[in-house]
Amino acid sequence: MKKILILGASGNLGTFLCQSFSDLKPLAWDKIDLDLTDISSTASALEASQPSMIINAAAYNNVDLCEKSDKEYQLALALNRDLVEFLANWCLAKEAVLVHYSSDYVFSSDDLEFSGFKENDHPNPINCYGQTKLAGEEKILSLAKQGLNYYLIRTSKLFGPKANSAEAKPSFFDIMLNLAKDNREIKIVNEEKSCFTYSPDLAQATRKLIDDRPDSGIYHLTNASPATWLQGANYLFKLFKLSPKVKPVKSTEISRPAKRPKSSILINKKRPKLRSWKLALNELYKKN
Ligand SMILES: NC(=O)c1ccc[n+]([C@@H]2O[C@H](COP(=O)([O-])OP(=O)(O)OC[C@H]3O[C@@H](n4cnc5c(N)ncnc54)[C@H](OP(=O)(O)O)[C@@H]3O)[C@@H](O)[C@H]2O)c1
Repeated sequence: MKKILILGASGNLGTFLCQSFSDLKPLAWDKIDLDLTDISSTASALEASQPSMIINAAAYNNVDLCEKSDKEYQLALALNRDLVEFLANWCLAKEAVLVHYSSDYVFSSDDLEFSGFKENDHPNPINCYGQTKLAGEEKILSLAKQGLNYYLIRTSKLFGPKANSAEAKPSFFDIMLNLAKDNREIKIVNEEKSCFTYSPDLAQATRKLIDDRPDSGIYHLTNASPATWLQGANYLFKLFKLSPKVKPVKSTEISRPAKRPKSSILINKKRPKLRSWKLALNELYKKN
């Protein structure tokens, strides 16, 4: 039987991976157990536990902070590139499987009407975070040629119930609900089209992928129906019968250090499609 290790186990996705794999009694580590930027401690911990599959949901995810601070950028490289390189080498040497998550931000289109990126399209990140995630992908793909067993899963715009980690970021929808209560005008970007993804759905789709054991490769797993942030917020407000003052704005009208793609839709050509994010949002907030 597979001995599964989940990294980033208390994060937004990791919390639900632990639930989706609970019958297999996975090992589950987070920052409180082990600092994954300490490669030598990580190596010792892996040697002691000998997993046959590592599911890596740990990452540096602060898109703006890593753009404006070199110290943060170095931390992003340590987690999103160097750790991934180490895990890929470890899995190759032990014939273990590496499951790793990457981001739609490895892509960028400046056409809001662009139909989307397929699994094998050429990446072109436009911010530092996207570059660090691409650097991690490249480490995995370079070892794939030597026989690494891997699933590289790209996803986007995660949302869901609160994660176990005390440091977990609130989701876009929770932030919007709070702002709507304030009764002030909310500026919402009517660009940056990609696919909202419900973390429990992604965890289940990951489980199904692993159970089905398709070939190693890149997979795009997101909920269906691409949307801008504004489209997401408008649907949420309709669900809650809220009508806050909303000002639709362009990306450039919000002051943020990192550039965002106008569109970074991921097209899933290889796996069963997930339901629409709207159905998942209804479930999250127990509507309908
Ligand atoms: N969130 C999104 O919208 C989004 C979009 C596209 C792709 N993704 C990708 O999806 C994956 C999961 O993202 P997520 O939103 O679930 O991330 P998350 O909530 O930030 O979880 C990441 C986890 O990694 C842990 N971690 C951070 N630094 C660590 C360290 N030095 N040592 C050990 N653990 C450490 C965090 O622990 P603490 O909580 O204690 O810091 C957290 O539990 C990532 O690969 C991410 O890049 C996410």
